[in-house]
Amino acid sequence: MNNKDIEHIGIIMDGNGRWAKKLGKERNFGHKCGVNSVEEAINGCLDLGVKYLTLYTFSTENNNRPQSEVSALMDLSISSINEKINLFIEKKVKFSVIGDMSKLDPAVVDCFHWIMEETKDNDAMTLIIAMNYSSRDEIVRAVKVMASEVILGTLNIDDINEKMISNYLDTKNLPDPDLIIRTGGEFRLSNFLLWQASYSELIFLDILWPDFKKADLFAAVEEYNKRDRRFGKLSNND
Ligand code: IPE
Ligand code: IPE
Ligand code: MG
Repeated sequence: MNNKDIEHIGIIMDGNGRWAKKLGKERNFGHKCGVNSVEEAINGCLDLGVKYLTLYTFSTENNNRPQSEVSALMDLSISSINEKINLFIEKKVKFSVIGDMSKLDPAVVDCFHWIMEETKDNDAMTLIIAMNYSSRDEIVRAVKVMASEVILGTLNIDDINEKMISNYLDTKNLPDPDLIIRTGGEFRLSNFLLWQASYSELIFLDILWPDFKKADLFAAVEEYNKRDRRFGKLSNND
């Protein structure tokens, strides 16, 4: 497999609740088991030499779920980071976060700051957790910062271009995702990286997230390798 041109994969990890329901368990059991698939995805990216993996973990809209599920997801993010710290250290994975941290439980934010500090010099790959993230919210926050800089006179309207807007987003310094995979059988982006996904290849899998294995990632990348990414130009054969 030649993955030279795949730098960044984004995954919409969907289907935890349905997976648990199929087993007659509570939704939160599905979230808990989904953590194993996170490890599968990280190891798969390390095997393939993919430098950036962004995982859609909790959307701003997920705050509209019952409080018991929201709290369980917040607790799970802390416990799984504590559980996986050795994996991050051993495999040289740098941890990063995108999303609105200002509205998150301080215990979660503290845990993120701690793990980011612990892993800041790791260089095998960067794991980006999209937590309390949605693309429209990210764009609104960026526009507010830009507007305030225009008012202050530190940003000139004529200097605003696509690259500059990208630099005001949470994903500044990250390449756009080459491939976005969504598990769980739905065909939508649900507010994930809308600006950044302009030319991403999309792959939708029926598999529910807790069943996702390294082999599923490899199969998706193999499918990606067959795609002709034209970026609006003509294909090499035309
Ligand atoms: C994805 O699984 C995890 C989050 C959105 C937090 P879901 O919880 O959406 O599972 P389904 O889609 O209801 O099966
Ligand atoms: C998308 O899944 C968000 C995450 C995977 C974190 P959802 O389950 O929230 O998406 P919808 O509601 O089916 O669009
Ligand atoms: Mg879902």
